[in-house]
Amino acid sequence: MEMREQWRSRWGFVLAAAGSAVGLGNLWGFAYRASEGGGAAFLLLYILIVLVVCLPVLVSEMVLGRGTSSSALVAPVKAAGSKWSWMGWLFVIAPLGIGSYYAVLMGWTLDTFLHSLFFALPANTAEAETFFGSISTGSSVLLGQLISLLLTASVVSAGVRGGIERMSKWGVPILFTLLIVLALWAATLTGTWEGYRTFLFKIDISEFFNPSTIRNAFTQAFFSLSLGIGIMIAYSSYLDRKKQLPKEALAVASIDTAVGLLAGMITFPIVMSFGLKEVITGSTVGTLFISLPTGLGTLGLTGRIVAVLFFALAYIAAITSSISLLEVPVSSLMDKFAWSRSKAVFVSTSLLFILGIPSALSLDFLGKVDSIFGGVLLIFGGFMLAIFLGWVVPRKFDEDLASSNSNLSVRRYLKFMLRWVSPPVIAFGLIVSVIDLFQSWSS
Ligand code: PHE
Repeated sequence: MEMREQWRSRWGFVLAAAGSAVGLGNLWGFAYRASEGGGAAFLLLYILIVLVVCLPVLVSEMVLGRGTSSSALVAPVKAAGSKWSWMGWLFVIAPLGIGSYYAVLMGWTLDTFLHSLFFALPANTAEAETFFGSISTGSSVLLGQLISLLLTASVVSAGVRGGIERMSKWGVPILFTLLIVLALWAATLTGTWEGYRTFLFKIDISEFFNPSTIRNAFTQAFFSLSLGIGIMIAYSSYLDRKKQLPKEALAVASIDTAVGLLAGMITFPIVMSFGLKEVITGSTVGTLFISLPTGLGTLGLTGRIVAVLFFALAYIAAITSSISLLEVPVSSLMDKFAWSRSKAVFVSTSLLFILGIPSALSLDFLGKVDSIFGGVLLIFGGFMLAIFLGWVVPRKFDEDLASSNSNLSVRRYLKFMLRWVSPPVIAFGLIVSVIDLFQSWSS
């Protein structure tokens, strides 16, 4: 048997995992969900869910990967026997579902980037809508989707160290720097405070009880952390035994949340300063692609530079996420059928392209796949992970953290949360989300 690849360094792993977490979910999804009306309630719930519920689950997903040194498909079986094979399949199907439409979103991002770079920004909302119509329909979507998948495949086929780790080590720091620059610039706009206040800080207690806000907060937390669908299993399976997983998990979650907040600090001032609140309220998946270029279009050259930077950074963020989505089926096929990396990449990429065609052709379909695969299924995956490591194989959790010398009180805290807090809270979030989703479909 060939030796399993390993990350070159601790930062390589943390940046790869953070690279997976930071993606369109932070730059586009966060703004999109925060603008749906939850305000500060959405923000607080989201942060609370990340800290209290998701962190222990993130650690447990990492433990499962490292403990079994296996891909997502095989890990549950290795840990607890063949009756858990369905969980392995869940962890492969979910990233395939997300990966299918993620490449479509990447295609839109790429188009918008190229358009800002080579042509002009739209002069008003109507032009922006026409532009968005042109990038989100017809053959240009399929082309954008295909290019994005090929780029992703080229990184993944270069392997864990040579592809994923290298890409993330460059991508994530560049992205962070660009974000900070853009957030500082956005802070100088006239509508800055109004933007922060309207979308992020306005507190309305009743929103805490609004099922849509609760669903948005849970979805955002799990989606944004790439949690509950085997990605952290795959990435952690390339880790050695010395790393203290709680520390790594905290680093990943902090970077991810910071990026979400920074992105909101860029998009909302722009939206507010240029009077685009109407465009964004009741937003749909395409809102960011309409409102941002329109707002920036009124700023001449500066606006264009900002647009180029923003969409470039969104694209980099998206690649470091899509490689993680592809790595799950790839590593699973390699483990299960002893395929070579390139064969597994070829088959998985082709599958993603085909599965993504309906999303490329219909916005409505894309939205539905997103709410199922990128929403309730992830939350369900998170619930299962909490049950699995908290109750089915709890000793694996203890032994792993003990062997890497993690602090005793941290271990006790995580174990308690994983067993007693995460399962009921996630179950609650899941039930509310499923009901709210059906209601939104039937209304
Ligand atoms: N976390 C990524 C983002 O925020 C998306 C993603 C979700 C990637 C689930 C992998 C798994 O865009």
